[in-house]
Amino acid sequence: MTKKKVLLSRIFPKLATQLLEEAGFEVIAWDKENPMPYTEMITVAKECDALFCTLTDKIDANFLNACSHLDIITQFAVGYDNIDIDEATKLRIPIGYAPNAMNEATADIAFGLMIATARKMFFMNQKIKDGKWGSFDPVGHLGLELKGKTLGILGLGRIGMSMAQRCKGAYNMDILYHNRSQNKKAEEALDAKRVDFETLVSQSDVISVHCALTPDTKGIFNKSVFDKMKSTALFINTARGGIHNEEDLINAIQNGSIWGAGLDVTNPEPMHPNNPLLNMENVCVLPHIGSATVTARNEMALMGATNIISFYKERRVPFIVNSEVL
Ligand code: DGY
Repeated sequence: MTKKKVLLSRIFPKLATQLLEEAGFEVIAWDKENPMPYTEMITVAKECDALFCTLTDKIDANFLNACSHLDIITQFAVGYDNIDIDEATKLRIPIGYAPNAMNEATADIAFGLMIATARKMFFMNQKIKDGKWGSFDPVGHLGLELKGKTLGILGLGRIGMSMAQRCKGAYNMDILYHNRSQNKKAEEALDAKRVDFETLVSQSDVISVHCALTPDTKGIFNKSVFDKMKSTALFINTARGGIHNEEDLINAIQNGSIWGAGLDVTNPEPMHPNNPLLNMENVCVLPHIGSATVTARNEMALMGATNIISFYKERRVPFIVNSEVL
């Protein structure tokens, strides 16, 4: 029997290839560090049965129609805004993803960015590298303390919950959240309060973004929202860069509408090295490393491989976005 061919669009953890090969698949893996070019991916995917891709791959209507023969596509990420889900569903292609694999890893980055931003850590570290340490300065570069402050979470799912737990445990912060659905667990365990978006924005000392990028959340943090935030507020985004308007964020920090920002995601990615955010005292930027732990990345590889293997073995995709196609 000929083996089913799976295209891996990036260099994924070895576990993915190992599991797929052990299960009898032929793995065709892109072996360069940069993402596979769009047209090349279409050409190669045309010769394959399944695709294991990630957030740097544009899986739009054109791609999906060119590769409508694919039995399954699975995404190495929890977010799937790079995939046209409606089109995939129309074409009856199941889309897998990796929910919950990176909850702790991403919450650590959000929590770390919050502290690093409050204490200007990246900026101060750069001063040392620039030979500008000087001497102990009693009034220079003072930061903020977080104890007893109010954390506002946009999108209180599991990553948001892990962030809220850290903030409650470390700083006894009050937790506000804005969500489509109520999070009873967070209300019971952390005394979290569900509020409307306006209240979240105006009453939080730290806003941490943990929602998906959708037409509703695209650019939701813009000038008018930054204007409503506290002038002492921190804006933390570890979800998707498209959720904030970067120009408005730069202006908001420059004109003092908000105090600072910690970003693990930018728009576009990669961020241009001349972006003014990179030299701002109250800003810390990371290159989208929320899930970059050995544990999380192996779990993401495991979930993707499991989706493909289960699909061919039992027509089941354990971690699926569009279950209606099965
Ligand atoms: C995701 O999973 O969506 C992250 O952004 C990358 O791991």
